[in-house]
Amino acid sequence: MMNIHEIVLNTQSERVAVEFIQKFCSEKQDLYDQKILKEADKSQITKIKNMSIPEKGRSIDSVVNEMIKDIYQYRYLTNHPRFLGFIPGPASTISWLGDIITSAYNLHAGSFMNCPTASCIEQELIHWFCSQAGYSNEAGGLFVSGGSMANMTALCAARDKILTENQQHLGVAYVSDQTHSSVAKGLRIIGISNSRIRKISTDMNFRMDIKQLECAIQSDIAEGLIPFAVIASVGTTNTGSIDPLEEIAFLCKQYKLWMHVDGAFGASVLLSKKYKHLLKGIENSDSISWDAHKWLFQTYGCGMVLVKDRTNLVNSYHTNPEYLKDLETEDDCINAYDIGMELTRPARGLKLWLTLQVVGSDVLGEAIEHGFLLAEWAEDELKKNREVEILSPAQLAIINFRYAPQTFTEEQKDALNQMISKKMLEDGYAGVFTTELNGKKVLRICAIHPDATEYDMRSTVERLNQYYKEIYQSMKEE
Ligand SMILES: Cc1ncc(COP(=O)(O)O)c(C=O)c1O
Repeated sequence: MMNIHEIVLNTQSERVAVEFIQKFCSEKQDLYDQKILKEADKSQITKIKNMSIPEKGRSIDSVVNEMIKDIYQYRYLTNHPRFLGFIPGPASTISWLGDIITSAYNLHAGSFMNCPTASCIEQELIHWFCSQAGYSNEAGGLFVSGGSMANMTALCAARDKILTENQQHLGVAYVSDQTHSSVAKGLRIIGISNSRIRKISTDMNFRMDIKQLECAIQSDIAEGLIPFAVIASVGTTNTGSIDPLEEIAFLCKQYKLWMHVDGAFGASVLLSKKYKHLLKGIENSDSISWDAHKWLFQTYGCGMVLVKDRTNLVNSYHTNPEYLKDLETEDDCINAYDIGMELTRPARGLKLWLTLQVVGSDVLGEAIEHGFLLAEWAEDELKKNREVEILSPAQLAIINFRYAPQTFTEEQKDALNQMISKKMLEDGYAGVFTTELNGKKVLRICAIHPDATEYDMRSTVERLNQYYKEIYQSMKEE
């Protein structure tokens, strides 16, 4: 039986860690042949629910083996080359290694003094990413858990910069009908109610309609409200569309609004020499969300919020309690807790540093360009089928389409495409999910895995075509 002195320094766990890593790495090799989805049936969920917390501990070997068998196995394999849903998570094993090392040292990266060198690396990285976005030396930012936190962190700074406390209930923010839901969530959390969030419609390419945006701003001003922020997207989740950054920046300047860019997915395109130009205008924004656990191939929990003028983060987040006075720093050594919500936080940036040092930014840029190609190959294959309607062509690694037989009603088409996606997931060959565009159920492919090939994309479409034929036939016969 274990005693209290084996809790912190548990030598058994060190042995199990080494064994686990060896086993995990050998099993990882055959990922390509595995099914995309490992579903837990009801009996497995019931088994988990019935597990209780024991009063006396059990052997570490048996608990770890049980967790691997009954818990970790069941999941979407989001790092599989043919996982094409949501924003996939093709995490590099270099990032995974960075995670292991960082967690081994368990750095407290909330304050600079706790781990000055690691904090310095996070800051250097933030400055490098700021410079990629065209921000100057006054810029700054922070590693956060992901895009949702980055959006909220930036929008809080926007609110405090543009509105006084007495004006906050009058503040209005502008998103598009394609903006990620985390933006509205973040706005509500910082006190901007739904009735103060304007959803501007998008054009036929799913980009924010600038005329409507300006009309909405003017009408809010006329009503005595105070517009304070426009949220532009760089790589919307549905289609990968990029809002008209230069026009939005122009309006923000004219009406003195904060321009936030949600680049959680698409800001990574800044590292591509070939496609960087698509993001022209981002340098005029006031803040950017940029997820490294999306298109920078990091394990989860690695996002960035970048702000053109870092004092805006300090103004919103600085605290000075008596129990932290020993951690006060020199001018340019920023405490993370002074520019964001968290106090205790892991050094999220170190795995990205490791990845960039080992891979180099050029190869990372090429890997991002590969995503563009993958979606283009899928589009090329889809165009061979006349029953396929492309609702949004390949852009930023994303394509949206549906099977639309002429004799089917809209309702039948929706059901048909939903069933095709379901069948593909049951088959486990590829992860192709649905979304909705213009009120229609569509199939969506988001392909960013550097190891996915032209064959992966074409064979996935061939299988979709096959399922289409089978399901179409059975629906016709009903
Ligand atoms: C455009 C965009 N913004 C924000 C988010 C939220 O990011 P996270 O899931 O890291 O919180 C996502 C997630 O897919 C996204 O696509």
